[in-house]
Formats: sequence, C-alpha cells, structure tokens
Amino acid sequence: MKHLLKMSDMTKDDILSVLDLADKLKYERKNGIAHPLLKGKTLGMIFQKSSTRTRVSFEVGMYELGGHALMLSGSEMQLGRGEPIKDTARVLSRYLDGIMIRTFRQEDVEELAEYGSIPIINGLTDYAHPCQVLADLMTIREVKGKLDGLKMAFIGDGFNMANSLIVGAIKCGMEFAIACPKGYEPDAEIMKWAKENGTFTITTDVFEAVKDADVIVTDVWASMGQEEEAMKRREAFEGVYQVNEKVLAAAKPDCMVQHCLPAHRGEEITEDVFESHADEIFEEAENRLHAQKALMVKLMA
Ligand code: CP
Ligand code: NVA
Repeated sequence: MKHLLKMSDMTKDDILSVLDLADKLKYERKNGIAHPLLKGKTLGMIFQKSSTRTRVSFEVGMYELGGHALMLSGSEMQLGRGEPIKDTARVLSRYLDGIMIRTFRQEDVEELAEYGSIPIINGLTDYAHPCQVLADLMTIREVKGKLDGLKMAFIGDGFNMANSLIVGAIKCGMEFAIACPKGYEPDAEIMKWAKENGTFTITTDVFEAVKDADVIVTDVWASMGQEEEAMKRREAFEGVYQVNEKVLAAAKPDCMVQHCLPAHRGEEITEDVFESHADEIFEEAENRLHAQKALMVKLMA
C-alpha cells in the first residue's frame, strides 16, 4: 500500500495491521509511552472543505509521532487560483513526506497521487472517507472483539461514508446491508464488487436492513457540498431514514451505533439514540487519532 485513496487500496491484511498498530499506539498513549515513529517528517494537510476531527486528529497525530503537520487551506493556496493539481503534487512532493487531502472530486486525489512522489491520504472526497472507516472498524472490533461474521447496517445516503464502509466491512468479513431512498444508492461499481465478494443487500426498507444487525451506522442526509439540495433531500429521507428507538429495537439487543459526526439530531438520528450510544460514538471519534497515526506510520515511516 503506497497511498490510501479509497478503501479498495487496502487488503484485509493491510486493514488489520493498521488496526493492530492503532490499538498498540492507543495503549501506549494512555500509558504515557512516547512513540516518535515519524520524527522529522512533515505532513501537508490540504482542506477544500470544513473539518474538525480530521484536521485536529491528523495534526495532533503527527505531533505525537514526533513529526509536524502543516495546514494548507485550499482557498489560500495557488490551487484555489487554478494552479493545476499535477503541478501542486510535484512541488509539494519536494517539501513534504506525505499529504492528506480533503476535497470534492476523487479524481483530484488520484491525480495528486499520480503526479506526486509521496504518500497521499484521502481525508474525504465525495466518493470516499477511508480514514473514518478505519476508525469505525477499530471501534467495532474494540467493542465486539472481532469483525468477521458481524452484520453492519447503514441507514441513509449512499455517499462517501456508505461507499467506504461497504468496502471496509466486506473486506473484514462483515455482512453489509444498506437502506436508502431510491436515487440515493451507493456507487454502482462498489455495490457490484460487494455482491461478488461478500453478503451485501440494498433495500428501501430500514427495518429489513437492520434485522440481526450488530452495528448500525448513519450519516447526514445532506453532505458538505450538497447544501443546495438540502430541501429535496429532506423530502426523500424525512420520516423514514432515521436511527430511532424503534429501528434500534429491530436490530440485535446489543447493537452498537456509529456516526462519523457531525450529527444532525432529529434528522438521521434521534437525540435519545445518539445520547444512549454517545460513548461508542465519541470513542469512534477518538479512534480517528489512533487509526490515522497507525496509517501514517505504515505509509510514511
Ligand atoms: N468525521 C469527520 O471526518 O469529521 P470532520 O468533518 O470534522 O473532519
Ligand atoms: N458525508 C459527510 C461526512 C462528513 C464527515 C460529508 O461528506 O459531509
């Protein structure tokens, strides 16, 4: 693995070895054991969309690994004035040891990797959010003690989170079911791959999807960049595509809930369900730090 542009860049072994190292780094951090595995290295962080978790966890992660992280706001870079990605890639490769990028188009991240000569990490595009999925898998494995054989149900938009969860979960031996409105399905190629490589179902029926689920995952109805579609999306999702007590009761009794955050209470998840599963959700947020530190060590050490 040279880059992490999307979950399909990782084999099952890649994923598990990142999770194992993440567990170790989490343990060491809790016990005050320093691990300067990226001493002297610099990560550039390009943001063309907002962020709280990704921004802070990558920057703190690099600091804790003995390296340095540089915030590069897309709008303040020449990139924002039209300098081509392929030129940016070749320039930044001469200064940095790795780049994390959050942007809109997956093609831009792929181009950065094609023209650059350093590891590229996708910090979210419209197509994928692999770093979040590593944290989710880490959290699920911590709580359930395994991934193989579990069922993940995703309720909501077939966008970046769903696309990446499908690939990550199926690779780790989980069953995957998604309930989404018509017209909001995940990427067609990803669904085709999932059907060929695991147990994957797609339905418009939330209760069908969550039956026997060990973990329910959801995400906002309108993602960053979809603000203008918010009304139309509300009509498609409202009243049906919500993780509430009734939906949770239809899953396994010990079903976990995961949410990448930020959450819109009263929309994709109710206040009650969110708060009763807050420990799992905020552990998931914390695990962004540990999983990404492990990922950076694998790619950049
Ligand atoms: N979940 C996630 O990526 O959060 P941020 O948008 O705050 O980075
Ligand atoms: N689907 C959301 C995830 C945010 C972390 C978005 O793209 O805005």
